[in-house]
Amino acid sequence: MTLIHKPIETARLILRPETPADGEAIHRMNTDPEVMRHIGDGIPWTSPVEEFLPQHRQALARAAAERYGNVSVVLRESGEYIGWCGLTPEKRIGGMQLGYRFFRHAWNRGYATEAAGAVLAVGFESLGLDRICAAVFPDNLASVRVLEKVGMKPAGQGFHEKAQRHFHIYAIECPAPTGRGRPSSMPESEDRVLTGGRPEGDTTGNAG
Ligand SMILES: CC(C)(COP(=O)(O)OP(=O)(O)OC[C@H]1O[C@@H](n2cnc3c(N)ncnc32)[C@H](O)[C@@H]1OP(=O)(O)O)[C@@H](O)C(=O)NCCC(=O)NCCS
Repeated sequence: MTLIHKPIETARLILRPETPADGEAIHRMNTDPEVMRHIGDGIPWTSPVEEFLPQHRQALARAAAERYGNVSVVLRESGEYIGWCGLTPEKRIGGMQLGYRFFRHAWNRGYATEAAGAVLAVGFESLGLDRICAAVFPDNLASVRVLEKVGMKPAGQGFHEKAQRHFHIYAIECPAPTGRGRPSSMPESEDRVLTGGRPEGDTTGNAG
């Protein structure tokens, strides 16, 4: 099933189910020290891609039976893969967690905000979630800003054992739920085009 079973379009992006073919790009992104600076212990990947690809395939197979996971984010104009965004269950912060990661060359163009807004809409509209959380290290200012821009609010903090430091929790409640958690302002179909991708309210990211 995965988080989405067909692509979703926003103003500038297409969010589509992640596939084994994305594995190489994901691995390459995770070898960038700047990308990994605020993820877990902050250490970039050094293991060879050949080791990761089978693990990635297995993770996708497991997620296929579930209604969560990451979606691949590609540019509408060129089809270029720029990163991922997703929802995963996270015991530490109690609920479904929003996360995202993008190649460095794609930063500061509003793409994370646009993708996160679309994924939150999937979470509330299609999955019927009441609340979505995110975890972020406080010095990850870009991610904090993304969370604020999508309407998430500070909701506590936790301690990351591996990183040995505190992270901040952000959360957003389903706005004005009608029926299965669908915000009244949202159309019923997952096929809709999310033209703005930047909800007006305020929500968070993931510290990995
Ligand atoms: C965090 C991340 C996803 C943001 O992606 P992005 O596409 O650049 O995000 P957006 O362009 O939508 O928004 C970034 C915002 O942060 C702001 N920002 C960026 N760097 C900043 C900094 N050092 N200090 C303060 N604000 C900063 C931008 O100005 C922008 O805000 P604005 O629209 O008000 O100007 C991206 O930096 C990334 O992939 N980082 C590595 C992985 C990661 O940290 N993931 C999140 C883990 S919690």
